[in-house]
Amino acid sequence: MVSRFVPNVNRLLARFVAGFVLVCATATCAAAAADKDIGRDVAANCANCHGTDGRNHAATPSLAGRDKAELIRQMREFRDGTRASTIMQQLARGYTDAEIEAAAAYFAAQKAP
Ligand code: HEC
Repeated sequence: MVSRFVPNVNRLLARFVAGFVLVCATATCAAAAADKDIGRDVAANCANCHGTDGRNHAATPSLAGRDKAELIRQMREFRDGTRASTIMQQLARGYTDAEIEAAAAYFAAQKAP
């Protein structure tokens, strides 16, 4: 059973590595495309409280259409503990600078509610 499983894993791994090398070798813009997806993916984590695509009609502020630099600054302040919050301080610690910037770009590009 183990001997049958191991070659399958190796084959999958080989395919994964081959695919990865192919993408990286053929498109220098792949990084930019990936950034866009990171922004959308991180923004999806915010939807429960800030609404779909950052458009909210409840108490939690909308993020859609806001200034990118301001969103980045606020997230960093939450993360560094210099901006008072109930929950954002904990959440902001889970994201890298690149993820925060990507999500801020995504929200800034959305239509304000
Ligand atoms: C569990 C609910 C929740 C989630 C999930 C959440 N937030 Fe928040 N957010 C809040 C609350 C509540 C506030 C008000 C400050 C506070 O009390 O933490 C806030 C405030 C903010 C503010 C400041 C807005 C302003 O105008 O003052 C920003 C920016 C922000 N959140 C970004 C994000 C981003 C980006 C994500 C996803 C990575 C996210 N939030 C996920 C609840 C949430």
